[in-house]
Amino acid sequence: MLRGISTPVTLVTALGITTLVAAKSAFGEACDQSNTHLDGGSFQLVTDCNPTLYCADNSTCAYKGCRRDTYPFGYNDYAYDQLPPLCPEGQFCPDEGDQCRPQVPIGQRCQKDRDDECERPPNYRDLAGYLNTNGTICLSFTCYLANVTLGQTCVNDNTPYTAYNDNGDAYAFIVSRDDCANGLYCDATELRCMKNKAIGATCSGNKECLSYNCEADGRCGKAADAVIHPPAWQYVLIGLGIVVLIGGVMTGLWLMHRRTRKENQIKLEQYYNEQIAYRQSIMSMSHAKNSLLSLPPNTTPDYARQSLYRDDAAWSSATDPSLIPPNMRRDSVSGWSDTDKPSDMARADSEVLLMPDQRYSDAPESSRRPGNGREGW
Ligand SMILES: *[C@@H]1O[C@H](CO)[C@@H](O)[C@H](O)[C@H]1NC(C)=O
Ligand SMILES: *[C@@H]1O[C@H](CO)[C@@H](O)[C@H](O)[C@H]1NC(C)=O
Ligand SMILES: *[C@@H]1O[C@H](CO)[C@@H](O)[C@H](O)[C@H]1NC(C)=O
Repeated sequence: MLRGISTPVTLVTALGITTLVAAKSAFGEACDQSNTHLDGGSFQLVTDCNPTLYCADNSTCAYKGCRRDTYPFGYNDYAYDQLPPLCPEGQFCPDEGDQCRPQVPIGQRCQKDRDDECERPPNYRDLAGYLNTNGTICLSFTCYLANVTLGQTCVNDNTPYTAYNDNGDAYAFIVSRDDCANGLYCDATELRCMKNKAIGATCSGNKECLSYNCEADGRCGKAADAVIHPPAWQYVLIGLGIVVLIGGVMTGLWLMHRRTRKENQIKLEQYYNEQIAYRQSIMSMSHAKNSLLSLPPNTTPDYARQSLYRDDAAWSSATDPSLIPPNMRRDSVSGWSDTDKPSDMARADSEVLLMPDQRYSDAPESSRRPGNGREGW
């Protein structure tokens, strides 16, 4: 049941927000001054108009005449020099942003948390602090000087902002402000200024601590922006870690490189050995040719033949001039054959087959495939 109800409720809420956002008026459109109010959760000013507009006295939306932030909300489509001007010193831009106004004296009205709307005192340098603006503070819509000393009566202003935890559940986040001088806080029950507490002292709110940080265990902790000083051993450890890491990477690279270098060395050695062997066989071939084809000095060809070929059956160009000398005889290396049959190819006394798929001469006409004959036509 509950789930069935909650879904439409969420839907309606979402739709309501959408219409609210969409219903913001553009320039010149009507707006209602009575709708201008502070948001209950964030205490921001809400109007009927777009963020770049305000609801003017004649109940139409008009362009803002000043800005408070260097980069204000809602001006995404504007160049920097198209933004409304910032206010000069001694003036302020109110939440509506209609125009710059002079700062108001102490005791007069100011807008929520707008300390900068109050006139700064002549001794503002002594009073200026982290929790006020140039020594002035706006508490309960009234300008105060943050000059109340130890033990004196002070003014407290607690604001419950709406905050959300990880689950999206809302809770109140209370910010407490007062007009005590720097180093003091306004005690909520006695309404007198007390000394701020050092780190480790018990506290019930941020403002009680000098560090402005009361931790969950009820003690003052370090300031949120406190500088962290790591101990010396951490520097040493990190330094050692960096050195070890660099050393490891370098060693790894060196080992890898060494292995590659070794491989390349072996390859090169093999290549050179091959080249040397090749060169040597060419040289021995050339030697053999020279020694066979050239006769020693003062030798007649007949004598050389006699010495070389004692056997009568041996070949000589004198006995068979149609043949070339055996050393020059080219083996039938190509292994050509007139037939395509592999058995014939295998019989060819050749070691190397050049163009094995082709035949030595053009195929004779008769070898045409029978199917392609003229009979078919
Ligand atoms: C309403 O007032 C604004 C601001 O003074 C002005 O810019 C705008 O023209 C006025 N609109 C009408 C309809 O008078
Ligand atoms: C506070 O005083 C400083 C120094 O004079 C000045 O620049 C700054 O505008 C003042 N702040 C406000 C909000 O008036
Ligand atoms: C704080 O300043 C106000 C306004 O100038 C003055 O009246 C008041 O006496 C001062 N309080 C202290 C404690 O100095």
